[in-house]
Amino acid sequence: MSNDIRPLAPRLRKPARITGRQLVFHDAGPQDAAFILGLRTDPKKSRCLSVTANDLSRQIAWMERYEADSSQVYFIIADVDGRRVGTVRMYDQQGTSFCWGSWIITDEVPSSYAIESALIIYHYALLLGFQSAHFDVRKDNVSVWTFHERFGAVRAGETDLDFLFTISHDAIQRSLRRYAKYLPDGIKVEFPPGAADAS
Ligand SMILES: CC(C)(COP(=O)(O)OP(=O)(O)OC[C@H]1O[C@@H](n2cnc3c(N)ncnc32)[C@H](O)[C@@H]1OP(=O)(O)O)[C@@H](O)C(=O)NCCC(=O)NCCS
Repeated sequence: MSNDIRPLAPRLRKPARITGRQLVFHDAGPQDAAFILGLRTDPKKSRCLSVTANDLSRQIAWMERYEADSSQVYFIIADVDGRRVGTVRMYDQQGTSFCWGSWIITDEVPSSYAIESALIIYHYALLLGFQSAHFDVRKDNVSVWTFHERFGAVRAGETDLDFLFTISHDAIQRSLRRYAKYLPDGIKVEFPPGAADAS
């Protein structure tokens, strides 16, 4: 018998809902296609995103494929009144690291929504057993890479277009503590009926 005990690898899971303080994340579906397309084709919001065709039927088809794809989790960010205010996505698992992106928040919402949404992502990722994260940010998206650096992300490389960031387990935990006032009670995660819970 082997004594080689390794921690179980984390895996991305699609919860039905995650409740934070001012925000609630829902698993996205085809019914959100028009909302997502509106954000992704908004000239101001999409400046630093990969290009999305302004074609609702293609976006619906994308969301239908997403429903069957267990390698990513696409969240609609809503406020406590159920108003959709943004999106964020977890994908590209590499061992115990996950990537996050497709992060867009509508204008005219409280500025705390950006911080809370990042905290919810990290909280959920640690709950799933992830240890770290990686992501790319366009070099000219200065406010977004500044945001990530304030959270403790470090530049691990670059391409012509992007800075490549990683954030360690320690840095994630430090930020969860430092910004705890934005998410004082942590998160409540609900899985769809029939799915085992995350613990
Ligand atoms: C990415 C996005 C969701 C970030 O949201 P945002 O509201 O722009 O985030 P900000 O960097 O302005 O931060 C929000 C507030 O929190 C504050 N803040 C951010 N990080 C903070 C920190 N670590 N400590 C304290 N305050 C912080 C900011 O100062 C800002 O407050 P202010 O509005 O009073 O100045 C938004 O910019 C967006 O939708 N961008 C378009 C799409 C995009 O480029 N996405 C990223 C792809 S990688």
